[in-house]
Amino acid sequence: MRIEQNYSLERHNTFRLPVRSRWFMEYSSEEELERILHDEYFQECHSLHIGSGSNLLFLNDFNGIILHSAIKGITVAEVSEESVLLRVGAGELWDDVVAYAVSHGWYGIENLTGIPGEAGAAAVQNIGAYGAEFKDAVEKIEAYNRLTFEKVAFMKSDCDYAYRYSRFKNEHNDPCIITYIYIRLSKRGELNLAYAGLKELLRNVESPSLADVRRAVAALRAEKLPDFEKLGNAGSFFMNPLVDRSVYEKLKAQYPTMPFYSSEELSKVKIPAGWLIEQCGLKGKRHGAVGVYDKQALVLVNLGGATGDEIALMAESIRQAVSDKFGIELLPEVKYVF
Ligand code: EPU
Repeated sequence: MRIEQNYSLERHNTFRLPVRSRWFMEYSSEEELERILHDEYFQECHSLHIGSGSNLLFLNDFNGIILHSAIKGITVAEVSEESVLLRVGAGELWDDVVAYAVSHGWYGIENLTGIPGEAGAAAVQNIGAYGAEFKDAVEKIEAYNRLTFEKVAFMKSDCDYAYRYSRFKNEHNDPCIITYIYIRLSKRGELNLAYAGLKELLRNVESPSLADVRRAVAALRAEKLPDFEKLGNAGSFFMNPLVDRSVYEKLKAQYPTMPFYSSEELSKVKIPAGWLIEQCGLKGKRHGAVGVYDKQALVLVNLGGATGDEIALMAESIRQAVSDKFGIELLPEVKYVF
């Protein structure tokens, strides 16, 4: 177990904000986590569990305990002719899990290449990109209930997965800390090339392999998304809004080239927030040390020395502009930490 006081979180948030936490506690096993949860001081303190901080916006120093999982390990829990079931420690880097699956020739998560963050957070957030989502592959989640201290397991159907959503985000449910995720991968899967840009990139590759898909996704990401090691950011700052089909029809009549995604809910249509922001003339806009990324308007970047408040102000002006122009309310994908 690692315990630090007055600890810099600069390397623990991908906006690279130089905030500090009163305490930082990192555990490497379920036993260590149990010890922390039973500790009276811990129970009295305000605490926040983080992954890699790739979806967080710290508005201040954190006057409490930041908890972090260093539970590692990728093991095969089950194997059959058709598939394997991987058991992955919540503290593994998500992209290492994808690399592991691809190198073994197992299908299912290759489109989720290059997403920053850890396995536990991937399960909370239901990460998604290039036509795939975490929920497509997950089978089971193991966790600790923070109120009862019990070890609990959730099958996929109990996790309430939806677009960038799971039961672990719902504040009405008991808070849980994920320790292990189980993902089912196919040994004889088919590639998922539903995302047009991916299909296009692999157009000239004969019988593309998993490694080809991983490379193509990495190339697509590099084209549109900034590397947080060079330019602090948290990926998409907002979620793509789901609007009623009637709203979509009206907008489509006005903006015939407006892109859209059909939704699992037939009465709703998802509109790319990046497009809405660009239509407001905000792509590439800068204010002080905060910018709207010039290749993808959904991403806010720390140009160097920004504060959380400045990023939040820029986000608010974007939300307002989209609301004024389209009557659509954007919701942040990034979690604000006060
Ligand atoms: N678009 C614009 N202007 C922009 C950005 C996008 O017109 O500045 C248009 C694009 O031309 C395209 C459409 O909007 O027609 C969709 O763009 P893109 O394919 O880049 O995807 P997105 O909807 O903006 C979502 C995810 C990303 C994920 C990509 C790829 C959300 C909030 N974001 O972005 O996820 O990588 O799809 O599948 O759902 C993340 O969550 O952090 C993230 C990066």
